[in-house]
Amino acid sequence: MNAWLITGGAGFIGSNFVRLASSRVDAKLIVLDALTYAGNLSNINDLIESKQITFIKGNILDSTLLNQLFSEHKISHVVHFAAESHVDRSITGPAAFIETNVTGTYTLLKAAQDAWQNQYDHKRFLHVSTDEVYGDLGPDDPPFNERMAYQPSSPYSASKAASDHLAMAWHRTYGLPVIISNCSNNYGPWQFPEKLIPLIILNALEGRELPVYGDGMQIRDWLHVEDHCDALFTILERGQDGEIYCIGGNNERTNLDIVMRICNAVDQALYRTAGASRKLISHVTDRLGHDRRYAIDAGKLRQELHWSPSYTVENALPEVVNWYLQHRDWADDVRSGEYQAYYERHYNQR
Ligand code: NAD
Ligand code: DAU
Repeated sequence: MNAWLITGGAGFIGSNFVRLASSRVDAKLIVLDALTYAGNLSNINDLIESKQITFIKGNILDSTLLNQLFSEHKISHVVHFAAESHVDRSITGPAAFIETNVTGTYTLLKAAQDAWQNQYDHKRFLHVSTDEVYGDLGPDDPPFNERMAYQPSSPYSASKAASDHLAMAWHRTYGLPVIISNCSNNYGPWQFPEKLIPLIILNALEGRELPVYGDGMQIRDWLHVEDHCDALFTILERGQDGEIYCIGGNNERTNLDIVMRICNAVDQALYRTAGASRKLISHVTDRLGHDRRYAIDAGKLRQELHWSPSYTVENALPEVVNWYLQHRDWADDVRSGEYQAYYERHYNQR
């Protein structure tokens, strides 16, 4: 039986992907994850217990382990999510980003190359990347597309840009069947609450301050995580080797707009007086080098692979708020480790 190797499958997007893959994919699903602070077994415990997936705790920097996995299983697909993914952490601690995102991706590419030995029929290496590699946009600039030059701003986006270049070099030089996806901001269930949407939802539910960086007028193009995963399945099925696909939600919103919507949804869910949660908003010191606007032109994916998103922020955000309301145990669990220290370091007296 063929196997898919899914790196970072205990993180936010990876765990959503694995959950969908367990009902959509007729292959063995092997999740490789180092379980950093952002990876949580509770995201996928039910899938491990029901044996729908095989979980391996391990690091993509460990070439011996990777070679062993490739030799023990008939790996046809690599879906590479594993990364350090939080921009704020990359500003205070960039080394881990270079190690995992750059050296880790190199190690994985090399392991696939060595294992597949130029036998690339029915093989796929999907490198999951970000729209942040394109830098940021002015208010009237056209949205990012696959032909734009890379202009990363943060240590995170620079490390992802480097990993994209390595992945494409492995295609061009060695013929590895690489595809890259560059996606916009995701939101949905199982997102670690250091990112804007889950952090604001949980703080609002708990009546805590809602930290908005700077004026809050930065713009992101929000995509529900299930739409992202659905686009990735589409690319895995019908995408072309050596191609790049931009994935976006057509949902450009300012951060303040998102925070206000969350406040409204929380007020409704908890029967608070309308406007009560908005009083918790606090403008705090801006992020260094903060990108002002991201927007995606997903025309290539729409026209060539006939994919488009199904969720909008309007219809999905209240449901997502309810998911976090109903998963308070999960939220308490994932915030019980080093999260408290991070939160204090990052937000106290900001
Ligand atoms: P995440 O931080 O929630 O999860 C990352 C996972 O990778 C965690 O489970 C972690 O334990 C694992 N990991 C980290 N270092 C590892 C290592 N050295 N070896 C093995 N596992 C390791 O990230 P996410 O938000 O789910 O993002 C997944 C991927 O999608 C990343 O590559 C990210 O750059 C990309 N992406 C994210 C977004 C977004 O909005 N979150 C948007 C576009 C692209
Ligand atoms: O665009 C895709 C990228 O989206 C992914 O590649 C990254 O992995 C993912 O983390 C995300 O990056 P952002 O920096 O855009 O996401 P974050 O949730 O950290 O922040 C979203 C916006 O909200 C950003 O403008 C910063 C702002 N923000 C964030 C936090 C955590 C706040 O105003 N307050 C906060 O407390």
